[in-house]
Amino acid sequence: MKPVLSIEALSAGYGGRLILQDVNLQVQPGEIMTIIGHNGAGKSTLLRAIFNLVPSRTGRIVLGERDVSALPSDRLLMAGVAYIPQHRSVFPRLTIEENLQMGGYLVRDKALLAQRIDRVLNLFPILKTRAGQLAGMMSGGEQRMLEIARTLLQEPQLIMLDEPSIGLSPKMVDAVFDNVRLLREQGKAILMVEQNVRKALSISDRGGVMELGSLRMQDQAARLIGDERVARLYLGRR
Ligand SMILES: Nc1ncnc2c1ncn2[C@@H]1O[C@H](COP(=O)(O)OP(=O)(O)OP(=O)(O)O)[C@@H](O)[C@H]1O
Ligand SMILES: [Mg+2]
Repeated sequence: MKPVLSIEALSAGYGGRLILQDVNLQVQPGEIMTIIGHNGAGKSTLLRAIFNLVPSRTGRIVLGERDVSALPSDRLLMAGVAYIPQHRSVFPRLTIEENLQMGGYLVRDKALLAQRIDRVLNLFPILKTRAGQLAGMMSGGEQRMLEIARTLLQEPQLIMLDEPSIGLSPKMVDAVFDNVRLLREQGKAILMVEQNVRKALSISDRGGVMELGSLRMQDQAARLIGDERVARLYLGRR
């Protein structure tokens, strides 16, 4: 199968400071790949570099067969890449429905957008029943759902999620991860960064460990969970 995303020799940093070093990875359609690693390892920088949000960068980013290395973020979005940042990005003073309309701003055909919003609301009943409510009044988990719903309006092939479970109750974490699984079932490629290592790997197909800006130990998620070193360093087991 052709990978949705191929990253070749990606290095990136801020100003003169190199953070990511020679990262190579691929994500297939219908696959969840999760990157784990300690605070400051460079996980968010990886997603931001792919989305062309980091000032200096070398290497190649290929989407399907197209080299998209030179594309700015809005063009990447149009090309089928969605990115949900670590910090909440809903518009708190707009309603759920208005947030979805904003999220679909690149869809020029308004009838098509209305159709897609309808479909997305049916996928997320929790949003549908409260479509007229202000997004800022929803819980953290519900806001995450809205962010995920919003990215779907663009019909992306690749969805990048930075710590979707951060700050959520265990029940909400499960709900958000259920939705991530749903995305995989729709054939999306998912590149996720997570600190909730055990749960994230348990829904993932493959994983990678980010250490000091380098991606180490890419493997099947189940093998990573079973790895002694991963368990000791990242699963809080001794
Ligand atoms: N805008 C920025 N300007 C300069 N340095 C930055 C910037 N953003 C991040 N860094 C640095 O890059 C390194 C990697 O940060 P990054 O946010 O990618 O780590 P992370 O693995 O996502 O950490 P966390 O688990 O805390 O989210 C850190 O040393 C950080 O200080
Ligand atoms: Mg981060």
